[in-house]
Amino acid sequence: MAKLIVGNWKMFGLGASLSEIEGVADAVPDGVEMAICPPFTLIERAARAAAGSALRIGAQSLHAAADGAHTGDISAAMLRDAGATLVIVGHSERRADHDETDAQVRESTVAAIAAGLDAIVCVGETEAQRDAGEADTVVAAQLAGSLPDTADRLTIAYEPVWAIGTGRTPTVEDVASMHAGIRAALVARFGDAGAKVRILYGGSVKPANAAELLAVANVDGALVGGASLTADSLLAIAGAV
Ligand code: G3P
Repeated sequence: MAKLIVGNWKMFGLGASLSEIEGVADAVPDGVEMAICPPFTLIERAARAAAGSALRIGAQSLHAAADGAHTGDISAAMLRDAGATLVIVGHSERRADHDETDAQVRESTVAAIAAGLDAIVCVGETEAQRDAGEADTVVAAQLAGSLPDTADRLTIAYEPVWAIGTGRTPTVEDVASMHAGIRAALVARFGDAGAKVRILYGGSVKPANAAELLAVANVDGALVGGASLTADSLLAIAGAV
C-alpha cells in the first residue's frame, strides 16, 4: 500500500499558510499519499487551495454527535461540508487537554467513518508508562477501547507522547516492535482487513529521520507535527518514502 504522510498543523497556521498548502499540492510525489490537517478555520480555504491536486485536507478532531447543543464542537458532516476528507481522532493532546476517553474516541471515529471521512485514530504511551514497561499494554488497551467495529476508512497513528515535539524518537527496534504489536491487534480484531489498515508513526518526524523511520516494517506513513508547517519540510519527508 502507498505510504501516507499527514501533516497535523495543531493550533498553528494563522497567516501566510495557504502558500504552504499550495506548495505541497503542487508537488505530491508519485506513489505517496499526502494530507494536511489545519485548524478548523482554515479547512475550507485549504481545501480550495488543494482542489484538483492529490493533496487531501483533513481536520484534527470532531464531536461524535450529528448536531446538537455542543458549544465549541464540530460534527463530521460539518467537516465534510468544509472540504475535509479525513480527520485525526484521539490525539494525545485531545486526550490530555480535553479529557477525551477511549470510549469517546471510538464514538467519534464511528461518526467520522459513517459520514464518509477517513479516521486516523491516535494511540501512544507516556514516558512514565514506557519507563514502567507498560507501553505495549497501554497501547493495546487504547486500541481495544478506541477502535470501531470495522476496518473501513481506518488508519492508526502510533505517537509516543514523549516523542511529540521533543526531538526524541524511539529506536527503530522499538518502533518495529510496537507497530508489529499494533498490526497483530488489528488482524486479531478485523481479520484480513486488519492487515490492510495503515499504521502511521508520529513523534518528532523530520526530514533527517524520515527515511529511517519510514523503512521500518509496518510503518505505513507518518503523522507529522512541527515539520509539517512548511511545504519544503513536509515534501522532504514525503520524498524520503
Ligand atoms: O500529530 C503529530 C504530532 O503529535 C507529532 O508532532 O511536532 O513531534 O512532529 P511533532
